Amino acid sequence: MLKVGIIGAGRMGKAHAGNLAKLKSVTLTAVYDIVPAQSAAMKELYPTMEIMDSAAALVNNPEVELIVIASPTYCHKEGLLAAMATGKPIFCEKPLCRSKEDFKELAPMISSYKNLFAIGFVRRYSAAVITMRNMLAEGKIGKPISSSVCCLFGGFKREWGDWFTDYDKSGGVMLDMLAHHCDLQNLFLGKPVSVYAQSFRLPKDLEKPRDYVSATAVYEGGVICNLECSWLRGGPSDTFMTIHGDKGALKFSDSQGVSFFDIGGAETKIEIDEGVKGHLQEEISGNMYAHEMAYLVDCVINKKAPLAGADAAIEAMTFCLGMMESAETGKIVKF
Ligand SMILES: NC(=O)c1ccc[n+]([C@@H]2O[C@H](COP(=O)([O-])OP(=O)(O)OC[C@H]3O[C@@H](n4cnc5c(N)ncnc54)[C@H](O)[C@@H]3O)[C@@H](O)[C@H]2O)c1
Repeated sequence: MLKVGIIGAGRMGKAHAGNLAKLKSVTLTAVYDIVPAQSAAMKELYPTMEIMDSAAALVNNPEVELIVIASPTYCHKEGLLAAMATGKPIFCEKPLCRSKEDFKELAPMISSYKNLFAIGFVRRYSAAVITMRNMLAEGKIGKPISSSVCCLFGGFKREWGDWFTDYDKSGGVMLDMLAHHCDLQNLFLGKPVSVYAQSFRLPKDLEKPRDYVSATAVYEGGVICNLECSWLRGGPSDTFMTIHGDKGALKFSDSQGVSFFDIGGAETKIEIDEGVKGHLQEEISGNMYAHEMAYLVDCVINKKAPLAGADAAIEAMTFCLGMMESAETGKIVKF
């Protein structure tokens, strides 16, 4: 049995605990949350968990073999430093951290970490994304020339005081939301060479919290990538990305799946085969979060690499921090 301890028993901590608890090879053994009631609520659901009184106590507990960090973004560093000191396998929610200073300290540590390090880029575990990656690798659209990401959320309900609405804690849509999509653009297109962004950054003079960014990045080879992302109150919500190549285009949408468009514009819907997720599909039923946890446990037990590890964490952070710097300074950031 793989013994798992969780730091942060909020929304994602609970989601991961629920998916891990369904796996036959896992026992949930420990939880630490800075708010004792949160730890207590998780222990009530999973009585095998011991409540720990600090991140250090949790990671050093001999009953913890895999450490899951699901605290708020600005607290990841505290959990990561404690976890890395133990040499145990680590899963950390995305994004890696909030600030440039924390990133400079953590990046070399995670890239040289001797045990498994996985980052919560859950979209890499969706069958649709795996299908799209495979089609790009097979040359379905030829050579990519441009890309667009639209991640619009019109139903943002968080209020002032919530850490998500504090740009200094969450990084707003540029870090909290676009970390996933910057990671996918990196997966599909390689490395960005520059970015320019304009953004609200959760201005406190608004009655209700709102955020918005419009950014343009250029990838190696000249592929131009446009990214638009929002937390707004009212208006439509959808996430889609389109990659155009010299032989056609591929579009992925959360609401409509994957389509191929030939250069005449004719659309072919792509049948998503859940089988692309590999042998684990037998053990898991459920969404990409369930698959992410099953894959993680498989990696720890069978000493395999995760679909999103240190390189993905570092490259997406580099992109997001560059976008944030551009929005903050009004200047193009070159990588
Ligand atoms: N992969 C995804 O799709 C996804 C989705 C949502 C959030 N996230 C990420 O997951 C992380 C957690 O987000 P969430 O939505 O669960 O937030 P949340 O606010 O629901 O939960 C965070 C929990 O951490 C606790 N906490 C606060 N400070 C702590 C500390 N120093 N040590 C331990 N616990 C602490 C809080 O009391 C709370 O229970 C964030 O980094 C966020 O960006 C990822």
